[in-house]
Amino acid sequence: MSTRALVVGNWKMNLDFVEALHLTQQLGVLLRHRPLEHVDVVVAPPFVDLRTVSSVIESERLPIALAAQHVSEHRAGPFTGEVSVAMLQRLTVAAVIVGHSERRAHYAMDDDVVARTVRAVTANGLDAIVCVGEDGDVRDAGHHVTFVAEQLRRALGAGTESHRARVCVAYEPVWAIGRGTSATAEQVREMSRAIREVLVSLNLGDARVLYGGSVNGENASTLLRDGEVQGFLVGGASLRAESFVAILRASDDCYARKR
Ligand code: 13P
Repeated sequence: MSTRALVVGNWKMNLDFVEALHLTQQLGVLLRHRPLEHVDVVVAPPFVDLRTVSSVIESERLPIALAAQHVSEHRAGPFTGEVSVAMLQRLTVAAVIVGHSERRAHYAMDDDVVARTVRAVTANGLDAIVCVGEDGDVRDAGHHVTFVAEQLRRALGAGTESHRARVCVAYEPVWAIGRGTSATAEQVREMSRAIREVLVSLNLGDARVLYGGSVNGENASTLLRDGEVQGFLVGGASLRAESFVAILRASDDCYARKR
């Protein structure tokens, strides 16, 4: 199991390239002021900001890695509006969020497309942050654990050879996203254990499991410790440097205590 937490800021469709530049610089100032010791930090800006954010990270040597929010499963060709893995690699992108619930809901990204996309990402040497999570109806019916386990098996089942050391799983219950109230640590723990079982069965037991859904500086410590996750996928709170760094610091402190 990783000795470092992984915290990913998913900016979603927010911040133009000027705003992205400012946020990255602010993060740089805060992280330089007090460096983190036990946290891998990743930001996932919109495609049009990647080049700007990549330049700031490189020129200021910031301890931040770059992720994309989505990528095409195809290599190249007539796919209007899409972006390829190779294009991302040219921009020093290290990871891709695959199968976020918003892409599944609004852009018809089904389990097969998710599986092919994860394969395209890992086979080309990038990391995949694979998103799974049930909606409110599935949870109310009590099927959440089997639903998420099946979603994960479908996403990872094929091509696990290239997935090794290249995959992490983000559990994001749809009903907790953007709500201001996260899942409870007990709910997160139940699911992180189920996810871990699936990962072990696929020989991917080293993968980190993240939680996402209304994470903030106040709930991060409890979720990390009692939820038995190894980091977070953060939406709203990653759009301001102070609130994102609060989550990073809480995670860093938790991992410092573990040692
Ligand atoms: P919020 O942190 O805004 O709830 O978003 C979570 C999320 O969807 C991150 O991918």
